[in-house]
Amino acid sequence: MTVLAVTNLSRRFGAITVADNLSFEVAQGECLGIIGPNGAGKTSVFNMLTGNVKPEAGRIVLDGKDMTGATAHARTKAGLGRTYQVPQPFGRLTAFENVLAAAVFGGGAGHAAQHRARDVISRTGLKARADKPAESLPLLDRKRLELARAMALRPRLLLLDEIAGGLTEAEVHELVELIQELKPDVAMVWIEHVTHALSAVAERILAINFGAEIASGLPDAVMRDPAVLEIYMGAVLDAPA
Ligand SMILES: Nc1ncnc2c1ncn2[C@@H]1O[C@H](COP(=O)(O)OP(=O)(O)OP(=O)(O)O)[C@@H](O)[C@H]1O
Ligand SMILES: [Mg+2]
Repeated sequence: MTVLAVTNLSRRFGAITVADNLSFEVAQGECLGIIGPNGAGKTSVFNMLTGNVKPEAGRIVLDGKDMTGATAHARTKAGLGRTYQVPQPFGRLTAFENVLAAAVFGGGAGHAAQHRARDVISRTGLKARADKPAESLPLLDRKRLELARAMALRPRLLLLDEIAGGLTEAEVHELVELIQELKPDVAMVWIEHVTHALSAVAERILAINFGAEIASGLPDAVMRDPAVLEIYMGAVLDAPA
């Protein structure tokens, strides 16, 4: 069942094109990977999906409902969760309090929200650090917390923005396992430069440059696509963290 359908999404910032007639779909239990060089427009596409940036053209349909003009708040209520390229927790609040705030925002109240928050904390492997202030957590746990906060919203659609960036190989491996566990519950779009992690999870990959699609399809085929290789031109796709 299709959760997200994007058609002909377009947007420029002055002379910079961040989305050039992009179309893609994601179903529940499925992950679409997005790759592209720095500045290609990946995060801007997420900002249009979340309602933080207005597209100049195109349609965004979530669960059959046209959300193109909806506020960011309405989209969150409709089941959109996202993680940020730079983790953005409430630093002074504990990990648990951060997740609880998201659970309450996602429509839970009282015991139900507490239960949901505890469940997500334990699913994301944060139990031992639940009572630590978010700002004191190491990077992997802050990334887990990003995921936990997004999951606490009960998302239908989960947008992950470079969640593996900056982690060691062993940490990337842990994160991939966690994402695999969460995957059946949601439709996922994952922007990632750590392409071997992405290939392990995504059914399909969309490669963009200057906001335009340059290749899409099965991960292996996209990674070998001459247009993709040319853009990365020796830039090591799997640069160590
Ligand atoms: N609100 C904005 N106003 C003006 N320019 C913007 C805005 N948001 C992004 N840009 C520009 O659009 C281009 C694409 O940025 P974006 O953050 O979408 O790239 P990205 O593909 O996510 O890159 P990275 O891999 O480095 O995260 C950049 O040149 C950026 O400076
Ligand atoms: Mg980005």
